[in-house]
Amino acid sequence: MNILLLGSGGREHALAWKINQSDAIGKFYIAPGNAGTAEIGDNIDINISDFKAIKSIVINKSIDIVIVGPEQPLVDGIGDYFLNDKILNKIPVIGPTKGGAMLEGSKDFAKDFMVRNKIPTAKYESFTKPSLEEGKKFLEKLSPPYVLKADGLAAGKGVLIIDDLNEAKDSLEKMLNGKFGSASSKVVVEEFLKGIELSVFVITDGKSYKILPEAKDYKRIGEGDTGLNTGGMGAVSPVPFADKEFLAKVEERIIKPTIEGLIKEKIKYKGFIFFGLIKVNEDPYVIEYNVRMGDPEAEVVVPRIKTDLVDLLKHTANNTLQEAVIEYDDRTCTTVMLVSKGYPGNYQKGKTIRNVEKVEDSILFHAGTRLSESDIVTNGGRVIAISSFGNNMQEALAKSYKNANIIKFEGKNYRNDIGFDLK
Ligand SMILES: Nc1ncnc2c1ncn2[C@@H]1O[C@H](COP(=O)(O)OP(=O)(O)O)[C@@H](O)[C@H]1O
Ligand SMILES: [Mg+2]
Repeated sequence: MNILLLGSGGREHALAWKINQSDAIGKFYIAPGNAGTAEIGDNIDINISDFKAIKSIVINKSIDIVIVGPEQPLVDGIGDYFLNDKILNKIPVIGPTKGGAMLEGSKDFAKDFMVRNKIPTAKYESFTKPSLEEGKKFLEKLSPPYVLKADGLAAGKGVLIIDDLNEAKDSLEKMLNGKFGSASSKVVVEEFLKGIELSVFVITDGKSYKILPEAKDYKRIGEGDTGLNTGGMGAVSPVPFADKEFLAKVEERIIKPTIEGLIKEKIKYKGFIFFGLIKVNEDPYVIEYNVRMGDPEAEVVVPRIKTDLVDLLKHTANNTLQEAVIEYDDRTCTTVMLVSKGYPGNYQKGKTIRNVEKVEDSILFHAGTRLSESDIVTNGGRVIAISSFGNNMQEALAKSYKNANIIKFEGKNYRNDIGFDLK
């Protein structure tokens, strides 16, 4: 079958790498892709918000299935665009319709969905400009720190955690007055939960689901989880503190009611669900939903899936996921992200990346790279994820770090302490 994968990051390279191992694939296109995906299939340089351009590719290249990597096209309704088109509606899209993508596209919708479906999450209320004063009163009832979340997509920058009550009130006002543009015209104010975070992933055909390996990512730029937030500096799977008992609670209290909620509310959903969780004492709570795989979580989760991914995706498309069997690799997979100097602030692009051919014992997933004549050059803040397997976390990390040192580009930076808080 001919496959079109949308996106250009490390997540998409990891998905492409795994898809490419299947016997079932015919032609494989990645749009727009990066220098890593170019070695696997054909990159097509389009803007993935341009649904008409995607439609022409699907028709001209006889695509049989479309896999959507990032959230934006899903929140913009690519799923519905396909369903409502006479030609495209026969082509399955791996990714939810707009109604399902609201689980990520609107934090207020997601919270309300969790409350309706009795899924454990921090208590909250949502406010708009006319209800600013009520918002301030709600803040007075909470204890610090205060959690303020822009309702809409804000590229991972829309959540503020503030210790001081007056500062929190002030920030609420600024958010409602457009601090994050229209994304913060509504703000979710919620109770702060104290615990340790992890992510659990499923693939669903809308009625049945398969649980994928869980992961923990490292979002801050600085060692010891300090400094600014990034897209993610590394990840580890499995997560040692997510034992059988805990994961059973996640399935019973969170995964099952989420899928049942989607069915009950007639939300069409085929694709990945990312459960951003926090473990408070021994209990899981949902921090957020994402409607796609995580990045860099995909770079440790996807390598651990032993089952043919195209097979799983076909079952997802055909509503037969219940029949599928999923197997994982028991070993630990870690990834370390090489980033550009200055990231997550300003950084330069176009730096030549050297020694990629000298890497052994790791899998390189390109995040922000492109080909420039015969060179691979940097093309983003996050540049390359170095994923490795080991019998334990230390063994896997030793391989990732050996290769993090071997790969060279001007301004290379990475965190030396991925997994520091895990045993
Ligand atoms: N209720 C909460 N209690 C404690 N920490 C929170 C809470 N909500 C969010 N956070 C912290 O803020 C981060 C970002 O929040 P999240 O809802 O995941 O938004 P996004 O990923 O869209 O920026 C979380 O990973 C977590 O560290
Ligand atoms: Mg998050």
